[in-house]
Amino acid sequence: MSLKIGVIKGDGIGPEIVTEAMKVLDKTGEVFGFSCDYEQLLLGGASIDVHGVPLTDETIEKAKQCEAVLMGSIGGDAKTSPWYQLEPSKRPEAGLLAIRKALNLFANLRPAVLYEELKGACPLKEEITEGGFDLMIMRELTGGLYFGQRKTVEVDGVVTAIDELTYNENEIRRIAKRGFDIARKRRKKVTSVDKANVLDSSRLWRKVVEEVARDYPDVTLEHMLVDNCAMQLVRDPKQFDVVLTENMFGDILSDEASMVTGSIGMLASASLNETKFGLYEPSGGSAPDIAGKNIANPIATILSAAMMLRFSFDRDAEADAIEQAVTQVLKDGYRTGDIMSEGKQQVSTSEMGDLICERISK
Ligand code: NAD
Ligand code: IPM
Ligand code: MN
Repeated sequence: MSLKIGVIKGDGIGPEIVTEAMKVLDKTGEVFGFSCDYEQLLLGGASIDVHGVPLTDETIEKAKQCEAVLMGSIGGDAKTSPWYQLEPSKRPEAGLLAIRKALNLFANLRPAVLYEELKGACPLKEEITEGGFDLMIMRELTGGLYFGQRKTVEVDGVVTAIDELTYNENEIRRIAKRGFDIARKRRKKVTSVDKANVLDSSRLWRKVVEEVARDYPDVTLEHMLVDNCAMQLVRDPKQFDVVLTENMFGDILSDEASMVTGSIGMLASASLNETKFGLYEPSGGSAPDIAGKNIANPIATILSAAMMLRFSFDRDAEADAIEQAVTQVLKDGYRTGDIMSEGKQQVSTSEMGDLICERISK
């Protein structure tokens, strides 16, 4: 049995962390009896270097022929990388947005879990994190500010930049349904996050989410304004189960949620459409400051590969095995630099991958 997986190694730490995730997938395959047929695809800066553009039709077509895509992160240092001399629509990030749109990946799941073993890396007080927490950010990924009209105009010598924020009710309904479906399999609570005290798009969001909620009487719905949510995430993260929100708010809140779990290097993600296909990538960036040093944390990418086995291939036992191996490696005291704390053993990116592989079992 062979799984057809597209691989976008990406830029910065991307190739380092994806290599470890592939290693873990291959080891899981050995133990459970499957193999992975990888197809390398170019996106972002790596694509600019070869083709002059961050995304080609070839990458989209090849990705569509795969059952799932595993990705590192794209982008570079805006001050020093030549990619940022290009106009905005030709930069690495534009490629990422375009592939999300082309593959209709509207549902972005970012699970923020505080592992018992990582309490030492969490900046919150112990009484707040007692018992750990486990929340799922459900971020709308193909609408809102990211995909509205953009322009910069100059009138009477004054420059004005405009970014449109648009949502239609269908876009809101489909992500809301996905949020409630996920909540039903978890602790049955949805916190819908918006800015309905200011924005029309948020008022529509709230109305549509309430309509969807009627079909899920077993799931509790609460609404929260985004500024309050940002505060509640550090005051009492245990209150959250599924956090359902629009594109930009989800981007910001997921980085915040990652830090309360210890590091952005721990936050996996899955970007899904209406089919089994998904694109799986860590939530963090290409970390140019630590690229090429073999010190980045590969766990978010490895956990993203586990999400891929679960969502795109219905291989729950295999995904569980990867998650258990990650828990075990943390229990055994191994840490990359970003999650290091006193008394633990610091390891490199590739050592972390090897240690996780050693712990994969049926
Ligand atoms: P970043 O997430 O790359 O880095 C922020 C900080 O977190 C840095 O100090 C970095 O060293 C650290 N960090 C990130 N991932 C880590 C890991 N796995 N292990 C250890 N430390 C880690 O954010 P940034 O610096 O704002 O962005 C850098 C580039 O990445 C930009 O070009 C940005 O557009 C891009 N980016 C891409 C994605 C993506 O591909 N999905 C996501 C976010 C940012
Ligand atoms: C993410 C990233 C992207 C986003 C950037 C690189 C376009 O920050 O995946 O969280 O904002 O969606
Ligand atoms: Mn982000």
